Amino acid sequence: MRVVHDFNDGWLFEGTETVRLPHSAVELPLSYFDETSYQRRFSYEKRFDASPDWQGQEMTLHFEGVMADARVWLNGEEVMRHADGYTPFEVRLTGMLRDTGNLLRVEIDGSENPEIPPFGGQIDYLTYAGIYREVWLRQTAPVSIGLHRITTPHVLSAEKSVTVSASLDNPQGLAAAGTLTARLLDPEGREIARTAVGVTADCVDLTIAGLKDIRLWDLDSPALHTMVLDLETAGGRDRVETRFGFRHAEFTADGFLLNGRPLKIRGLNRHQSFPYVGYALGRAAQERDADILRHQLRLNLVRTSHYPQSRWFLDRCDEIGLLVFEEIPGWQHIGGAEWKAESVENVRRMIRRDWNHPSIILWGVRINESPDDHDFYVETNRVARELDPTRQTAGVRCVTDSEMLEDVYTMNDFVLGEFEIPGNNRPRTALRPQRECTGLDRPVPYLVTEFNGHMFPTKIHDQEQRQAEHVIRHLEVLNAAYGDPQICGAIGWCAFDYNTHSDFGSGNRICHHGVMDMFREPKFAAHVYASQGDPDGGIVLEPVTFWARGERSIQGVLPLIVLTNCDSVEIRYGAHAPVRIAPDRGRFPHLPHAPVIAEARHFGDAGLGVWGARWEDATIAGYISGVEVATRHFVANPVPTALEVVPDADDTSPGDAVRIMIRALDQAGNRLPHLFDPVSIEVSGAGHRIGPALVPLHGGATGVWVRAHEPGMMKAVVSHGRLGNVTRVITVN
Ligand code: GAL
Repeated sequence: MRVVHDFNDGWLFEGTETVRLPHSAVELPLSYFDETSYQRRFSYEKRFDASPDWQGQEMTLHFEGVMADARVWLNGEEVMRHADGYTPFEVRLTGMLRDTGNLLRVEIDGSENPEIPPFGGQIDYLTYAGIYREVWLRQTAPVSIGLHRITTPHVLSAEKSVTVSASLDNPQGLAAAGTLTARLLDPEGREIARTAVGVTADCVDLTIAGLKDIRLWDLDSPALHTMVLDLETAGGRDRVETRFGFRHAEFTADGFLLNGRPLKIRGLNRHQSFPYVGYALGRAAQERDADILRHQLRLNLVRTSHYPQSRWFLDRCDEIGLLVFEEIPGWQHIGGAEWKAESVENVRRMIRRDWNHPSIILWGVRINESPDDHDFYVETNRVARELDPTRQTAGVRCVTDSEMLEDVYTMNDFVLGEFEIPGNNRPRTALRPQRECTGLDRPVPYLVTEFNGHMFPTKIHDQEQRQAEHVIRHLEVLNAAYGDPQICGAIGWCAFDYNTHSDFGSGNRICHHGVMDMFREPKFAAHVYASQGDPDGGIVLEPVTFWARGERSIQGVLPLIVLTNCDSVEIRYGAHAPVRIAPDRGRFPHLPHAPVIAEARHFGDAGLGVWGARWEDATIAGYISGVEVATRHFVANPVPTALEVVPDADDTSPGDAVRIMIRALDQAGNRLPHLFDPVSIEVSGAGHRIGPALVPLHGGATGVWVRAHEPGMMKAVVSHGRLGNVTRVITVN
């Protein structure tokens, strides 16, 4: 039977430091660093003895992701080179292992090798360097289950079926006659069907039909079934369990359908990077990002811009009902023939790795925002359709009138920023109708894959007025997408701020394009997305204000946008009579939940008091069906009152990192947006802190990841000069 050994511990990095994977070759400061510091070669070595029960077994190393251009040696002999930094690769060790003292050496090259995607031009993100995902050593019988694709044809019929196409791994070429048994488990793990087929060749197909009462995988009920495959041949026994879902996803010229029902896509783009360690955070952080996108931002889709992301992230999307648009690595630049061949390989690697994830509904088979390239993209589409006829293809472009070789025309529509371009007399427009972009004479399946981003960078500590405009722009585009039945939906740029090259961003090596900062702390625009979720899933009441008379030009807090999924909002200011205001459906008629916008006209002549008068406290309350369901209080005279220190979890496992959010709050529990005081973070016990010990608050908040290395307790003590110390204990199991 197969055993998967954790191979992440005890790597000697650069001959000096013992590290655990995932690992980043260079830890960067948060901002203003030299991104060439990791663009060089690094080495990792691991010594290990063979275990007696590996005798007669197939031994294979599985690398989930190494950036980039990895070369692997075993006992001095080169056994593998894998150029792509985003897809996994395997190294067969069978027959090469010594009983003791094996030496595995991995050399990586973090330089931006123009021969491999995404490199060759400028890219607006960093790729970092390191063995930044996990490594496993797989032990199987000589004949084992290899790649297998599970498909669910006719999902929408009452009686369903499931098909498995599996290949056997039989590197020794043994006579492999035997049996493959497939057992279908329901989401509770109960067996509901089984079948067995004879195996004679290295490929085998089987179908289980006549399935009744199967629960579909859907956003609110992501029912995951499991296929247990048992192989028995003269070459040994093997078992693999694979999760999948029964669901139907289709982009049409009249919108997107999930399980036959129309669904407007509301998404954001995600880069997989984190402060300091870049890509190198493991399971917990990956899962947490998916949770943030689904539960906190209430999205229904994420685009893995611009490359295949961690399998932990995708597994979590499967579990929580978050749709995924996944794409191959690349950014604007297309290289020569070999480069393109590598990119076509990336299509293969991505699809073969991920075809069983029900969350994935679209394969991106173009280099993001590249020009048309007929032959290249005919080939990427052909390969995708051949490997996976069940999913549509897409290819993200920013040019109009591009050749449509894919099933879905996916467009980065940044038109909303164009009214500000000098000499461009375009009126303020949120989105273009699809035909203006496609240039086609007929409607086609059409999805907006980016908007806003560089057209309106906004920092978490930017002035309130800029943040309010940031909010309005996200609202306008979502409203336009909801209002146009020929737009399947819109995916904003982007979820989280990210480190980038000096050619982009704010000069500090950060693109402040996120609706959350790099620590995943929400800016106001995050609540645009959250507030579109129904109140059943959580009431949102987020006034876009720091509540200060003198923050904005001219003074005051009006117009005051309140992002909410309530029916109405009441503003209680000082001794004034409360003012009840309904959502602004005139301006945002198509949104599921239009914001409330309080204006001077709602408050009579004096507005909310005039310059020179006393500035008062306020309460903003949300109502649903006439009942008060949420309140937010604002104080006229905020002072630092509490240090909030919130870990994402109070337990973890070795190797994993827990994020701790740190916020300085006023008397009403609101973040102090202009507090930039330092906080110190000391971590002791079974883990360590990632990043510096002394950090400033950004807009009143910051975060830190603490990484566990052994079972026990991790203690984090966060100290602020005026607010004292807060201690949090995290158990490492
Ligand atoms: C797009 C690009 C993204 C990001 C974004 C910033 O052109 O696809 O990766 O750079 O602009 O708005």
